[in-house]
Amino acid sequence: MTELIPAPRSAVAGSGEVRLTRHSRLYADPATEGVGHWLSAALRQATGLPLREGRELDEAEGGIGLQLDPGLGPEEYRLVSDHFGVLIEGGDAAGVFWGAQTLRQLLGPDAYRRAPLDRDRVWSVPYLRIEDAPRFRWRGLMLDVARHFTPKEGVLRHLDLMAAHKLNVFHFHLTDDQGWRIEIERHPRLTEIGSWRARTKTGHRASPLWEDKPHGGYYTQDDIREIVAYAAERHITVVPEIDVPGHSQAAIAAYPELGNTDVIDTTALSVWDTWGINPNVLAPTDNTLRFYEGVFEEVLRLFPSEFVHIGGDECPKDQWRHSETAQARIRELGLADEDELQSWFIGHFDTWLAARGRRLIGWDEILEGGLAKGAAVSSWRGYAGGIAAARAGHDVVMCPEQQVYLDHRQDPGPEEPVPIGWVRTLEDVYRFEPVPPELTPEEARHVLGTQANLWTEVMEDPARVDYQAFPRLAAFAEVAWSALPAPAERDFAEFQRRMTAHYRRLDALGVAYRPPAGPLPWQRRPGVLGRPKDGPPPSR
Ligand code: ACM
Repeated sequence: MTELIPAPRSAVAGSGEVRLTRHSRLYADPATEGVGHWLSAALRQATGLPLREGRELDEAEGGIGLQLDPGLGPEEYRLVSDHFGVLIEGGDAAGVFWGAQTLRQLLGPDAYRRAPLDRDRVWSVPYLRIEDAPRFRWRGLMLDVARHFTPKEGVLRHLDLMAAHKLNVFHFHLTDDQGWRIEIERHPRLTEIGSWRARTKTGHRASPLWEDKPHGGYYTQDDIREIVAYAAERHITVVPEIDVPGHSQAAIAAYPELGNTDVIDTTALSVWDTWGINPNVLAPTDNTLRFYEGVFEEVLRLFPSEFVHIGGDECPKDQWRHSETAQARIRELGLADEDELQSWFIGHFDTWLAARGRRLIGWDEILEGGLAKGAAVSSWRGYAGGIAAARAGHDVVMCPEQQVYLDHRQDPGPEEPVPIGWVRTLEDVYRFEPVPPELTPEEARHVLGTQANLWTEVMEDPARVDYQAFPRLAAFAEVAWSALPAPAERDFAEFQRRMTAHYRRLDALGVAYRPPAGPLPWQRRPGVLGRPKDGPPPSR
């Protein structure tokens, strides 16, 4: 019972168990019908039980009941398993959905399978009472589908994995120098040209190796609608990211007029095939603004999310310094320098989004040169950006690269696939604290939550993404959901004990996680150990 991940606020064991049988029914009140559909589908495929729909709660006796309790808060739930059956009540449908996720964990790892192993097996839930609610309202995962493309099926799978861990914001990094992944009807070349590259750097950017095969793919607008709807069924919000004005070479390769044509011959650019910070950024022209307003118009039609991410990170200013067009714009707007030009560019979309009832969110570079009022910040270069933003009254999502960039290696040994970034072990992630102690309680209210980021330069296939994400995402989910004590006081041994059960769930879900701590199988064989690396590893 106490092997739940993330840990609930409180769990009290009873004695006895509810048995689910062929006669068990599932009742969902009208407000929780969607959760009922999801839960009955998930449990039917795993157990083979019919779980017929009950028309009232009494009919669910010995079965499962789902309903709202207006006395509970947003996303809060209570799960009671006793002689009446299993009753899950939530402050809203999301709360009931998270309770349903808890029920699935209570049923054991085989509840995660897509077909029953044994139709005669007895399924039971111990008598207990769980009261639970999340610490943060933004419990995010970012997936970079630009560097390596994740076909739609894989995205849906990530949404299922997020739901199983009570994560609720999917930050969809859709565009970058190395690929444009979303169909934009009025600008078809973005995907015709921008979604494929001829070859790809293998591993770190300093590597001499290439994969000499085209890499690419994109989501049609119907794919996006499906992904957004699938996420909504799981109470996950999809926040799209269209990265401007840097990280835009794929767009410039498709539409060379978007680049700084008075500085370089942008018609010679192709979709970028290596990693790092790219100098080819958007030109700050009216044409570029109108072009991206068109992109965002289509994006807003597809994504109902309050927040829209505009990137804003890592925009080198060299081309703007050398561009007569950019310099004329700086003079015309009375700006001090290129940093203010970037601010003006971001500010344009902030106003544009606000006028359409949405809120802009961007990486913490958008703080440089001033930020519009409603804008929020993803604090990635450590905590500093988030602290500054919160103090200035902006909402913040804490995702410091030193802590929750899951492309960074998870063991100091030389065998980690590509040893970029800091070593961040499972325990390090478990001891990550999203709210820095520097913030007053008032300022800390601006921390909407936290997010783990999966940048995919060195994750060339889904198995590698799984390896980097898991098991650390399970620790991250507990940080985001559970009311944990201060980092030094967190009981990592107890978490690891629960992880023993969780690995069985991940097995049933088909997750190719990094094997638990200790030498990996190949490290146990003598003679295959590489030379340990000295000093800090290179970044991407
Ligand atoms: C980032 O990692 N460039 C946001």
